[in-house]
Amino acid sequence: MTRTGRVGVGFIGAGMISEQYLTNLTTFPDVEVVRIGDIDTARAAESAAKWGVPASGTGEDVLADPDVEIVVNLTLPATHVEVSTAALRAGKHVWSEKPIGVDRESAAGLVALADELGLRLGIAPDTVLGTGWQTAKRAIEAGVIGTPLTAVTSMQWQGPDVFHPNASFLYAKGAGPLFDIGPYYFTALVHLLGPVESVVATGSRSRETRQLVVGPNAGQEFPVEVPTHVSVLTSFEQGGNAQSLLSFDTPLFRHGVFEVNGTEGTIVLPDPNTFGGGHPIRIARPLGKDVSTSRSRSSRTGRRSPTRSRRSVAASACSTWPARSAVAARTSPPARSGTTSSTRWSPSRSRSPAARSSRSRRPSRRSRRCPRASTRSPRPWKARPPRCR
Ligand SMILES: NC(=O)c1ccc[n+]([C@@H]2O[C@H](COP(=O)([O-])OP(=O)(O)OC[C@H]3O[C@@H](n4cnc5c(N)ncnc54)[C@H](O)[C@@H]3O)[C@@H](O)[C@H]2O)c1
Repeated sequence: MTRTGRVGVGFIGAGMISEQYLTNLTTFPDVEVVRIGDIDTARAAESAAKWGVPASGTGEDVLADPDVEIVVNLTLPATHVEVSTAALRAGKHVWSEKPIGVDRESAAGLVALADELGLRLGIAPDTVLGTGWQTAKRAIEAGVIGTPLTAVTSMQWQGPDVFHPNASFLYAKGAGPLFDIGPYYFTALVHLLGPVESVVATGSRSRETRQLVVGPNAGQEFPVEVPTHVSVLTSFEQGGNAQSLLSFDTPLFRHGVFEVNGTEGTIVLPDPNTFGGGHPIRIARPLGKDVSTSRSRSSRTGRRSPTRSRRSVAASACSTWPARSAVAARTSPPARSGTTSSTRWSPSRSRSPAARSSRSRRPSRRSRRCPRASTRSPRPWKARPPRCR
């Protein structure tokens, strides 16, 4: 049957992340949130009232609602497969929060069921479709770092118990840094480097229990069931490899470290846990590249003390490229001294001679700073949770 009009969406799970989904989905012209369900029906009713959604109830009520065409599954990891399976069997398309499930077998079964029933199944994260990642991907495909070979990623902090009132599920099977945040990083790696051939990993746990920090149950202790510090080595089918750290075991807040090394340079990508990117895309070039630009810079400044040269070497190893929605061509960098060079990407500059002349302009002190020279926040407890979310 061909249906016209707005697509009816039903939520199952009215918890923390549902707020963000409702903020967005209640504004889209082509979808209509028609019902919110939760095992906590009072919570579902409160959410429906707040967002002007006409009906609420249990998850079963959502599945029984003929106006619901797509179920948005925002329950906990342990119930993702169960709820998504029930939704598919009820004839609904499904969008589920990550992870798809807590084990490979049940996740594969879910994908097979959707195929068999001819229904759509989508799983978060979709941040790789955001402007930051699409810009970066286009830059890589255009050859700014040559052939991508290897990647380094890192996400570390003290963990989500500092902001989530129901944090215990984030330390249970199906979560921990690997399943809670890893999907953003591994989806992004696969997006850039292709299918995975093999994985080697090791993990550890700094504590057997943690305590809720916020919410009505603050102070309550809960068990830590999964590794909270995980190191992963990934090999890709088309060659290349990545090393990834995912940790809830350090107060040092460092999110969104995502670097891809290619035959011609290194690109520092946006945080895959965000849509926009959060910081400019940076490109580092090997020593000795783009010597011609280096000469012109040298003659322009006319002053080069050994001290300054050393500083320049450090400074020019990195440069910034603000994320844009379209990338046209590559421009030469404002490098100097013939020892290091940097590249900025700017579609507008590549288009006109006047714009091209601005290439020799020195990047600002801020933009010349290496991206990982300091931690993001000296006070991690003040930092906003790392949500794209
Ligand atoms: N909180 C975040 O910042 C965030 C960000 C991105 C993704 N996520 C993901 O979103 C999902 C939900 O997270 P949350 O933070 O909203 O959790 P939450 O604990 O705040 O909310 C989960 C809700 O699901 C309901 N629920 C659980 N099982 C159910 C079932 N079988 N049927 C109906 N309702 C059920 C609970 O009653 C609760 O209201 C998780 O998979 C999480 O990984 C959360």
